[in-house]
Amino acid sequence: MKALEGVRILDMTHVQSGPTCTQLLAWFGADVIKVERPGVGDATRGQLRDVPDADSLYFTMLNHNKRSLTLNTKDEKGKQVFTRLIETCDVMVENFAPGALDRMGFSWESIQEINPRMIYASVKGFGPGPYSECKVYENVAQCAGGAASTTGFVDGLPLVTGAQIGDSGTGLHLALGIVTALYQREHSGRGQRVLAAMQDGVLNLCRVKLRDQQRLAHGPLKEYSQYGEGIPFAQATPRAGNDSGGGQPGRILKCKGWESDANAYTYFITQAAVWEKICDIIGRPEWREDPDFATPPARLPRLNEVFEAIEQWTMTKTKYEVMQICNPLDIPVGPILSMQELSEEPSLRETGTIVEVEHPTRGKYLTVGNPVKLSDSPSEVSRSPLLGEHTGQILQEVLGYSAEEVSELREAGAVGQEDCTS
Ligand code: COA
Repeated sequence: MKALEGVRILDMTHVQSGPTCTQLLAWFGADVIKVERPGVGDATRGQLRDVPDADSLYFTMLNHNKRSLTLNTKDEKGKQVFTRLIETCDVMVENFAPGALDRMGFSWESIQEINPRMIYASVKGFGPGPYSECKVYENVAQCAGGAASTTGFVDGLPLVTGAQIGDSGTGLHLALGIVTALYQREHSGRGQRVLAAMQDGVLNLCRVKLRDQQRLAHGPLKEYSQYGEGIPFAQATPRAGNDSGGGQPGRILKCKGWESDANAYTYFITQAAVWEKICDIIGRPEWREDPDFATPPARLPRLNEVFEAIEQWTMTKTKYEVMQICNPLDIPVGPILSMQELSEEPSLRETGTIVEVEHPTRGKYLTVGNPVKLSDSPSEVSRSPLLGEHTGQILQEVLGYSAEEVSELREAGAVGQEDCTS
């Protein structure tokens, strides 16, 4: 039995943030019914298409293990079906623009009346406040949540990161809120509203930068490279380049082959506890005792010199050799791995973190499987549904409509025609 078996999710999500959340719940065993507009579906089905007429990787990689029902929730008969779905499901998840569900005629109050046990979970760009009505996308959230102002180099532009901390990060936060609300419902018998705002989620992930904002009031941030370089601090937490956030100086350094390989680099942390070992491997044993280098405070104004010397050594090794040499010595290093390398990494295939999936219209593709492993609830990855693939099945088996009623709903345009032939 899967951890969330028996939990039925009414999945009104689209694009990335909401689908990330419901995909996780599906991997943990929930029955996720994705409701999409007839004939249209989640807009990502057609975005960034690589194979003509096939659902895009954007869609397939975010919607595994779900069923698809096409339903016009603005049509009167469609609203009746939607009401039955609310009655039947445990959790409703949505990430529409603010107010969209109210405009369909389904306010939180009316949803509670239909099903007092319903957990109604939403992703929005902002929480209540001046921006609560705004539509928000990934990079907007990264900027509004503090990530961009603290990413990049001190003398350069704010930068967004490739990790989708606004969309997927908020989806993760929402999933935790949902399972917490399900747990509380065990005792209270009542559902509740769950909100994860993208700005809040990004800010939560930038917690250490708010820490540094407050530390600034008590003097310069000495572990930031700019301190050693004599660059004065302004009033806000600055961009820290590739400095490590934990107070131990770290940088990205060139490795063998860097001239032709954009990812021949390693992250290297000069952790105080292993300083002597670092001195030995880079051929600077004299720095172990030298008062200019022997202690962390003495090294702070000389970090450029320190890392240049380390880089002279890392440039003689591949990023993997650096790891092989440093790991047994407890020197923290990390190779910069490309998407190509990750997709070919056998250990990730073995754990199910990278999975090959067969899809009827696009063929085989790679995806990231469930990154959270439960010993009693292993996740299998099954392909994303075609648009409306399960409409008839859900209407009959879950909601109890007869075949005739399903035909009537189709003729009325309340549900889609997509799976008529199946
Ligand atoms: N039947 C009928 N109508 C449907 C429907 C269905 N099954 N599913 C959606 N719709 C309607 C909605 O009700 C809405 O109509 P309205 O404008 O009359 O209220 C319309 O489709 C479009 O929804 P909307 O959410 O406004 O889409 P959008 O493309 O304009 O905006 C976002 C996209 C992502 C910007 C917006 O949804 C948003 O800000 N979401 C919250 C934050 C978020 O999750 N952002 C990250 C996305 S990865």
